[in-house]
Amino acid sequence: MAVESNEQTQEELILGFLSESGSDFTSGEALSGKLGLSRTAVWKRVEALRTKGYRIEAVSARGYRLVGVPDRLTSLELSPLLSTRDLGRTVHHHESVGSTNEQAFRLAQDGAEHGEVVVAEQQTAGKGRRGRAWVSPPGLNLYFSAILRPELPPQRAPELTLVAAVALAETLRDWGTEAAIKWPNDVHLDGRKVAGILTELSAEPERVHFVIVGVGVNLNSQAEHFPEELRDTATSLALATGKPVPRARFAAALWTRMEEWLDRYLEEGFDPVRARWKALSSTLGQDVLVRTDRQELRGRAEDIDPSGALLVRTEEGSLERVLAGDVEQLRPRKPPRSR
Ligand code: BTN
Repeated sequence: MAVESNEQTQEELILGFLSESGSDFTSGEALSGKLGLSRTAVWKRVEALRTKGYRIEAVSARGYRLVGVPDRLTSLELSPLLSTRDLGRTVHHHESVGSTNEQAFRLAQDGAEHGEVVVAEQQTAGKGRRGRAWVSPPGLNLYFSAILRPELPPQRAPELTLVAAVALAETLRDWGTEAAIKWPNDVHLDGRKVAGILTELSAEPERVHFVIVGVGVNLNSQAEHFPEELRDTATSLALATGKPVPRARFAAALWTRMEEWLDRYLEEGFDPVRARWKALSSTLGQDVLVRTDRQELRGRAEDIDPSGALLVRTEEGSLERVLAGDVEQLRPRKPPRSR
C-alpha cells in the first residue's frame, strides 16, 4: 500500500527502511514502491537527508545504504530506533530552549497528548531541583521532558520520579556501568552525579491533569564542560566508560525502559518500583545528613516507605520520615574496635 506522507515523514520512512537493511543495499525501486513515490522523489529525499548530515551511499543497480547518522535528537534520528507505544512517538525538538520542562508544561496546557516529549540540544535556563540550575551545554547530552497523563490521584504523582529513576539507572547499567540511585532521584556513577529528574505537576484535588517528567543525563560532557564547582561531584557516561555515547540510541533505550516501568507501575502499583529502587539504591544502609527546607537530620537511611519517603533512624533512635530534601552520604561509621 502506498504511504501518503509529508517530506519529513518520507525521510523518516527512508531512514527506517535503510536502518532495517543494515549493511545491505535497498533498491531505489523498492523504496519508491514502499513510499508510493517516484524514483526521482526518493532521490530528492535522500539528497535532503545528506544535507542534514546522513551519510547515504548510492550504487547504481544496487540502491542505497545508510553508512552514518548525525548525532542529533530530532525525530528523524529517534523514530527509526524507537520501540515504544506512546513515549517519544511525537518529539518536539529545539535547537535551544530555556527549559524543556517549561516548554512541555505549556504544550500540555494546550492539550498535548500522553507520551509527547520535548527535547533540546541545549537549555539556556535548565532547571534542577530545589531552585538550582541544570548545566545544559549544546550537542553533548540529553535534556528532555515527557508529558504524562496517568490516571492517578495527585498525591501519588511523586512516585513517577522513582519510576523514571529506576528506568534511568537500568539504562545506564545496560551501558556497562554500575549506576546507583541516590535518594530521591539522582543517578550516580562512581559516586558522582550523572543524571537528575525534575517532576512537575498540574492537578486538581482529586485528579492529575498532567505530569511533566524532566530528565537531564550527562552523556558526552567532558570535565571542562562542567563549571569548576561541579567538577568533583559530576560526571558523564562518556567519562565513566571512556567511549562517546550516541545520544539518540541512549534516548530510545531510556524511553523504552521508562514506558515499560510506567506500564508496570500503572498495572501493579508502586511495590515493584519500590523494590527495584531499593535494589539500585546507594543510599539505604548509609549514614546520611539530610537537609530539608526546615531542618538538618543525621542518621542511618533505613528504608523508603510505600510512598517513596526516606526513613531515617536518627542517632537518638527515632524514625523520621523525609518527603523532600538533599542527602549527603557520610562516611560509614567505624565499627567498634574489638578488644
Ligand atoms: C536535579 O537533579 O536537580 C534535576 C535536574 C533535571 C534537569 C532536567 S534537564 C531536562 C528538564 N528540563 C529542565 O529544565 N530540567 C529538567
